[in-house]
Amino acid sequence: MIIVHSVEELISHTQNMRDSIGFVPTMGALHEGHISLIKRAKEENSKVVVSIFVNPTQFLEGEDFDAYPRQSLSDSEICRLAGVDVLFMPTSTSMYGEDEISIFAPPIRGFILDGSSRAGHFNGVLTVVMKLLNIINFHKPQKLRAYFGKKDAQQLALITQMVKDYFMSVEIVGCEIVRDKSGLALSSRNAYLTTQEMQKALLLSKSLYEAVKLIMQGVLETKIVSASMEKILLETTKIDYIAFVDREFKQLQRVEIGNTIILVACMVGSTRLIDNIWI
Ligand code: PAF
Repeated sequence: MIIVHSVEELISHTQNMRDSIGFVPTMGALHEGHISLIKRAKEENSKVVVSIFVNPTQFLEGEDFDAYPRQSLSDSEICRLAGVDVLFMPTSTSMYGEDEISIFAPPIRGFILDGSSRAGHFNGVLTVVMKLLNIINFHKPQKLRAYFGKKDAQQLALITQMVKDYFMSVEIVGCEIVRDKSGLALSSRNAYLTTQEMQKALLLSKSLYEAVKLIMQGVLETKIVSASMEKILLETTKIDYIAFVDREFKQLQRVEIGNTIILVACMVGSTRLIDNIWI
């Protein structure tokens, strides 16, 4: 595995990757969720590139940019063992210049739910993803596929839309959420949770499973499903939102089987957690 830190080096190392490239962008603190993305990228492509970059532009004032877990040594070992070909760990100055052109998330879908609680967050996500995809695509391999987890469902929907709206030649692949044995969706931010908070965090998936149970019984009114999820979550978390959207992130009044995502965001202690389930 080759580790590179500058855009120029990455461009030089992707020069001979003419066939297909599977790209997994991350912010590090790698866990089984990331490993599952890398595995899928390996299965479907001849070369795999992973990036680790804690992107400053997607953190708002007062958020956890400084505290975000950084563990480059163990992360690079995980990548090496997973068979990654090139690991890109750029510095901020190699990714961003001064007085740059800005990419804005769409005014509605980019500013509801996580985009409302974290206004501007998706501008930063889309900007860095656009940059990363353009760098990897520099030599126009036959096929570029980029892998994202469904846990960040709104992010996945917006990136898919950006690629379509800007006629970018990359296939966006959404991958299943990875959970631990107790149902907790894996996230780098789980590292912030105390043992007690870990128990409270389980309520997110518990509320989603309760929603699925009701829907299987034929309860399709989102208000009713939402109320019973709220009861579970309110026990110990502070709810940011419970939402029902279709695959394009339009809000739903009734669950549409095969076209619904149920999302929750909660504060558990001082950690904001998100989770969702695709129906
Ligand atoms: O999901 C993430 O880890 C980040 O938002 C991403 C896509 C790597 C962009 O910084």
